[in-house]
Amino acid sequence: MVTRNEFTKYFLPVYNPGDFIPTRGKGSFIWDQKNHKYLDFASGIAVSSLGHCHPELVRILNSQSKKLWHLSNYLTTEPAIKLAKILCQKTFAEKVFLSNSGAEAVEAAVKTARKFAYSEFGKGKSNIVAFDDAFHGRTLLTIALNGSKRMTEGFEPLPKGITQHPYNQIEGLEKCINDKTAAVILELVQGEAGIIPAKQNFVNAIKKLCKKHKALIIIDEVQSGVGRTGYLFAHEKYKIQPDIVCSAKALGNGMPIGAMLTTERVGKYMQPGAHGSTYGGNPLACAVAHEVINKISKKSVLNGVQKKEQRFLKGLTAINKELNCFDEIRSAGLWIGCKLKVQAKLNLDNLMKEAYANRLMILKANNNTIRIAPSLIIEDKVIDEGLARLKKSILKLLD
Ligand SMILES: Cc1ncc(COP(=O)(O)O)c(C=O)c1O
Repeated sequence: MVTRNEFTKYFLPVYNPGDFIPTRGKGSFIWDQKNHKYLDFASGIAVSSLGHCHPELVRILNSQSKKLWHLSNYLTTEPAIKLAKILCQKTFAEKVFLSNSGAEAVEAAVKTARKFAYSEFGKGKSNIVAFDDAFHGRTLLTIALNGSKRMTEGFEPLPKGITQHPYNQIEGLEKCINDKTAAVILELVQGEAGIIPAKQNFVNAIKKLCKKHKALIIIDEVQSGVGRTGYLFAHEKYKIQPDIVCSAKALGNGMPIGAMLTTERVGKYMQPGAHGSTYGGNPLACAVAHEVINKISKKSVLNGVQKKEQRFLKGLTAINKELNCFDEIRSAGLWIGCKLKVQAKLNLDNLMKEAYANRLMILKANNNTIRIAPSLIIEDKVIDEGLARLKKSILKLLD
């Protein structure tokens, strides 16, 4: 049996995983090597939105695994076409590029936006406006979009032509978004920053300035998309017509896949040779993602997200009333951030450890927020059980 110590021995130390090793999952539960059963309020990081090893997805993956695993993009496959088709049918998109991850979807988005601006307006309209505390991934471009020293120190030189602006701040926006702007990239809810929703008037101001200066709007829905907020994509709620949307995470329910969605008008300059990926459009991932979109776009699932969100909020509010442990509870569908009232022993690291000890999996966001992102089809009694374990974990640290 492999051990956690061997992880430390063999892995680049960029991660510090918990001290148990999960070996299997089913629905909202995970079992470790010792057969301890954990309740999952994390779904990876907002990935396994239909739970672990959903039987229908297992069936589809098994069936595809016996047919075809891989071809280069010199040829196409049935699962890739079916996925692109359903994405276009269910969203604003007319054209799709398939990648393997969220950061790659963002890379494709920025390349597509710059190519569009270059082709339509010539050189000089290449700047990208991004926002403080944004998270778009870990490649050089995507850390440059974040811009903070915490992410970029030691990795310079970074890609240029990016302007940062405070999130949710309208003042000064007109100085950033100008005739040199190719695109604005925006999360409608900042996930890594602690579930911070964009204000509608901030989004409206961006919309207006982008229209004025013929700049594109890229919405990064890698975490917010595919049902997480109770909408198939969060931009539906904000009534904003994006030019490009980045998707990944829940799109594959754990199969590595990303997608960049765009329009015919914007995508038309990305001709052969402009971009590509060995694995993008992989038939195994595409077969699963097609069924994920099919299932999550159902009204019953999306309405269920909103109902379950209310159940979580009721439970968390009751915990806070009794224990006075949160400064704020924020939510966007089944995506909940509880800003912790940090006290002597009650801090995020201790709480994660205590939650694991109580066989509960939760996530951190920022340096002060518990993030909850369960399966979108988690059962009510499992929500209640998880909240009871969370309360027990907090109580222990208040002693
Ligand atoms: C909004 C957002 N964009 C992009 C990414 C990067 O995705 P990936 O880790 O699949 O590259 C993430 C990952 O957390 C994300 O939350």
